[in-house]
Amino acid sequence: MLDDMIDYVANIRERPVWQPIPDDVRARFHAELPRQASDLGDVYREFTDFIVPYATGNVHPGFMGWVHGGGTAVGMLAEMLAAGLNANLGGRDHIPIEVERQVVEWTRQMFGFPSEASGIFVTGTSMANLMAVLVARTTALGQLVRQCGVEGAALTAYTSKAAHGCITKAMDIAGFGSDALRCIEVDRYHRIDVAAEGLWFHVDGAFGALGILSPVLAPRLAGLESADSIALDFHKWGQVPYDAGFLMVRDGERHRDTFSSPAAYLRRETRGLSAGSPWPCDLGPDLSRGFRALKTWFTLKTFGTERLGAIITRTCALAGYLESRVLAERRLELLAPVQLNIVCFRYRAADSNRVNGEIVMDIQESGIAAPSTTLLDGELAIRAAIVNHRTEARDIDALIAAVLEFGARRSSSEDGPVPELEQSPPLAM
Ligand SMILES: Cc1ncc(COP(=O)(O)O)c(C=O)c1O
Repeated sequence: MLDDMIDYVANIRERPVWQPIPDDVRARFHAELPRQASDLGDVYREFTDFIVPYATGNVHPGFMGWVHGGGTAVGMLAEMLAAGLNANLGGRDHIPIEVERQVVEWTRQMFGFPSEASGIFVTGTSMANLMAVLVARTTALGQLVRQCGVEGAALTAYTSKAAHGCITKAMDIAGFGSDALRCIEVDRYHRIDVAAEGLWFHVDGAFGALGILSPVLAPRLAGLESADSIALDFHKWGQVPYDAGFLMVRDGERHRDTFSSPAAYLRRETRGLSAGSPWPCDLGPDLSRGFRALKTWFTLKTFGTERLGAIITRTCALAGYLESRVLAERRLELLAPVQLNIVCFRYRAADSNRVNGEIVMDIQESGIAAPSTTLLDGELAIRAAIVNHRTEARDIDALIAAVLEFGARRSSSEDGPVPELEQSPPLAM
């Protein structure tokens, strides 16, 4: 299994980025509860035949949709080791928690946070953002809010009009309601246009915060160090396999005030297995927690932050290359200035939103690349986010070639299936 998975990662270019799931394959996963044991080899064969070929595709260098990290074989091995230890990082006194605390300390240093800051691994930035809203709530209303609830408390949060949907969701789940979120206009670069004062300053750094590791990008992130809290994902630009979300709070005491809950069965001691308080369960909603820290620790140590920073810089350079390809091609139009690693563009066509939506689905189904879409001022954009350390200029070329090819077919044809394109080698210009 290990050899197969290492080969899978090493030879990923030979596969389509993504492919639609045939009905018979999907149907296999509507089976009855397995009451009897099966041979491990048979179960593994089901994995290789019916799971591996239909994965998301973000290991592939042609995956550019949404913001998905590529992971590494190092992270994969660390996941295996962590599963072998089967550690529960909710609490108690064991070295896996020290590994997590080590990564928290490294992250604190990365962002120039004070020594009293605290941090914790979570599933992803959606969870980290929600937790930050809760810390801001407890800070504003006091710990009594945990007992009495937010009834009648009129607190308002401010965010960018272009903020991720999980921010609205966080306000909803936290009990304030999404109407209590004011969405501030953005400038032409889609940056929030606000001088915030007296507010809880939370940074949704889901993928952007780790730009701090790139000497080229770091100056543009000045101010991060004065945030009250930062949410980020090591599983995006940090190349750690899913999931490795993270929340860091400037004032660790406020963080603990928000989540710690005494319980008789979680009594803390000064020695023995129940030592080492505060425990990670005092910093978030989870009690059972896996060893996400290990794959992050392995990744940071094996590659070092300079190399990870260089990868981040390179993804932005590749986005710059994609931008230049778009600008040089009269059939394409750039829809937003390229700031970091994301390029929004479209194929020029009458009925542009429909045609570009079709182009993106055609490209995904071809297996050549996997961009996604977004709406910018009502215009549907093809959105390519270069996150994967495996992506190269030839993958950008393949994307452009595919957009032009499918664009020509879509703007000249009626609706309906488009003939298949060759998958390998990538389309030449
Ligand atoms: C800016 C931003 N915020 C939040 C999220 C949600 O993060 P996660 O998917 O890790 O929950 C994302 C995901 O791409 C994002 O880009």
